[in-house]
Parts: sequence; C-alpha cells; structure tokens
Amino acid sequence: MRVRVRRASHLGADVLAPGDKSISHRTLLFGALGTTPMQVRNLAPGADVRSTGSCLRALGVSIAEGEVPGALSVRGVGPGGFRPPATVLDCGNSGTTMRLLLGLVAGARVACTLDGDASLRRRPMRRVLAPLRAMGARMDGEEGAEDEGAPLRVEPVSTLRGMAHRLPIASAQVKSALVLAGLAADGQTRVREPEPSRDHTERMLGAWGAPVRVEEGEVVTTRLLRPLSLPGSLEVPGDPSSAAFWIGAGLLVPGSAVVVRGVDVNPTRTGFLAVLERMGARVELEPEPSRAGDPVATLRVRGGQALRATEIRPAEVPSVLDEIPLLAVVASQASGETRVSGARELRVKESDRLRQLVLGLRTMGADIDELDDGFVLRGPVRLRAAGIDAAHDHRIAMSFAIAGLVADGETEVEGAEWADISYPGFFRELGAATGQSLEVPP
Ligand code: S3P
Repeated sequence: MRVRVRRASHLGADVLAPGDKSISHRTLLFGALGTTPMQVRNLAPGADVRSTGSCLRALGVSIAEGEVPGALSVRGVGPGGFRPPATVLDCGNSGTTMRLLLGLVAGARVACTLDGDASLRRRPMRRVLAPLRAMGARMDGEEGAEDEGAPLRVEPVSTLRGMAHRLPIASAQVKSALVLAGLAADGQTRVREPEPSRDHTERMLGAWGAPVRVEEGEVVTTRLLRPLSLPGSLEVPGDPSSAAFWIGAGLLVPGSAVVVRGVDVNPTRTGFLAVLERMGARVELEPEPSRAGDPVATLRVRGGQALRATEIRPAEVPSVLDEIPLLAVVASQASGETRVSGARELRVKESDRLRQLVLGLRTMGADIDELDDGFVLRGPVRLRAAGIDAAHDHRIAMSFAIAGLVADGETEVEGAEWADISYPGFFRELGAATGQSLEVPP
C-alpha cells in the first residue's frame, strides 16, 4: 500500500498517544501468571500485541472483551498452569512476543512451536535460546549462517536452574526472557546488562508481588511460588515511541503546534527527549497522573525552532533505540554533523534500520554516511521527495512520512500499512493534522 506525502505548510495536532507496546505485551504475558481477572484499558492497538494475545489464548489464558467499553479482561492461569497449545504459536512480526514468550514457556512443562513472519524468521534468537538452554531449557531454532531463528521448537523440562547472566548487549527482550525463566527456576537468576535497557519487566513484576528485585544494577529473580497479585484494573500509558513521531513532525514543520497527551515518560524510554533538548528543541512536559507505575506527561512542541546537530554515543543508545530512525530525519534539518555510534543492534530489528534510513535519506538528498554501528549526517539539507520502501518496518514507514512533510514534491511511502504493527491510524491522523489525505485502507 503506497501513501503519498506532500510538504506540509502547517501541522496542528492534539492527539492521545496509543497504548505503549512494551507495557501492553508485558501486561498480557505477566497477566498469565495471575489467576484473578484484570481489566486492561488502552492496550496497544497494533498487530504486535494482538500476536501476544493470540499466543497466550492458545496456552489457555482468557483474554476477552472487558466489563467497560474498550477494556479487555485478562484472566491468567498462574505459574505452571499453561495447557499444551493445539497450534503453532504465531508471533507474527513481533520480536518481543517471541523472545518474552520463550522465557515464559522455558520452564512451563508444555511442548510448543513458536513461529513468525518472514521478517521475524530472520531475526537472531540465539541470544535468548543459548542462555535459556544454559538454565536447562530444551529449545532449538533453525540453524542459519550466523544464528538460530524461528520456527523454534520447545520441549518440556522438569525444572530450570537459576544462574548469573552477563548480557553482551543491552536488550530488554533478552533480560525479560531470562527473568521470566527465573520465575520457574531453582535458586537465583541474575541478569546484568552493559547499559540499562527499558525496565518495565522488573518494575511491573516487582509491583505485582513477584520475587524480582534490582540490586546494584543487576536484576535478581527467584522462583514464583504463588500466582501474581495482579491489579484489578490497569490503564496502559501512551507509547513514547509513537509520540516521538508527532514531536518530530511538530519540530520540523514550521508554524506547527502539537500536543501529545498521556505519554509514558519512564526515563529508560525518553532518551529522545534528551537528544532533542541537546539539539536545541524545546519540548514542554506537563505531568499527568502516573499509570501502571510509570510517570506520564502531556508533551507540547511548536515548529520553526532552530536545531543543531548532536552526538548519540553507545551508552545512550538503549534509551533511544526505537527512535533513532526518526531522530535521523530530524537531524537532517539540524545544522552541523550528527553522529550516532554503538547502534549496530538496529541492523537486526524489523529491518536493517541503519541501512534503510541511510538509503532513504540519501535518496532524498541528505548528506549521510553509513557506519558499521551508526551513521554520520551533515545538515541541514532541503530534502526532495522520493519513493521509499518501508521494508516491512513500521518505524521506517512512519519516519519517512515525517521526512516527506519537509521534502519538495511528493514522497511515496511504499508499505505504509506496516505502521499498523504499532500505530494503526497513524497515517489518517497525520493526514488530518496536515490537511492531506493519507488514508491507508485497512
Ligand atoms: C522492546 C525492547 C527493545 C525494542 C523493542 C521492544 C521490549 O529491544 O527495540 O521495540 O519491549 O522489550 P531490545 O531487546 O533490543 O532492547
């Protein structure tokens, strides 16, 4: 599906950020470890979280229409309560579903197969499989040239052994999988990362009574002996990674006024705000009541601000991981040299994001060089419209839609429907905000 985006002369938006994807996956997955019903509002609307829901249903978790309109009711099975699924667990496009679910089923005494779409099948799974096998799990992927990938076969085991893990790369997905396996393991499971990744798993599990705590930067888990104490109701805060597209668009389009409400501003997720501040952008934060234990704010931004280049160093990368494609688009309009390093992980996301953003921005006239672990970009340049392939990647589709708003001519985003992975309705809302018709048919 191709969407044509034209240069915008104004942008007026007052939007609610859709529910956070990371917290939504975890709400469903951790909800499985409780036995009391939980009413969940503002669950992330995209296809990724639906994949988590359908896998959990196949394992016996009840996820149904909730008591209040728009809410879902989740009733878990408690630790050790999964039933053997009758079908393959289809994780769709979602790496978070596949990696966290591996941790959950590792010690669950059920046999199952996890699979996904072509993009997910290409993603590296040894980073989760190997440490889980070291804990005693029996699971195998398809052997590839450099790694193991889906389909993944999991065999039941009687118990797992806790152990200490040192992750070579910061990864919230790997950390979370090991913590979940630790809940079904004898002894202590310790996970240390080189830099902190998003901390939703340890915060949510800790708040819900699981034996998970953080000790000097290490996540320590012991066996979960009773069902989690789930809240009766929970409202998922808005996704900062989705909000970032609005903030970027607001900054780039002159004369714009953008308000994004209900945004999760957990510090492990808001590195993009720190980067934008260094670039000279003024983004106002007005606190809202916290949700799901996280701070929440309304974000406000105005267009036409002078932006300067900045450097994103390796230690900062985990906190801006999913926002780097959008930040590259913003940096193309900033004066000076922007440099990003330590971001090789972007090559193994839904697409090779470094390659896609360098190729796309270069076709639009940007002065950008690809590095093995990042890029160097010199701005500002007047972008020109081009045909951009979303490469089956929601964040590439949305980032280049924002680039199209400041490019001469008509930018064609091929594969715009991939935005539905995390943000269905994004193109419609962006069209409404800029007076263009950017409808993506369902
Ligand atoms: C996520 C973790 C990140 C991020 C992904 C969601 C999560 O991946 O890119 O979109 O919810 O745990 P890492 O495992 O590389 O941190």
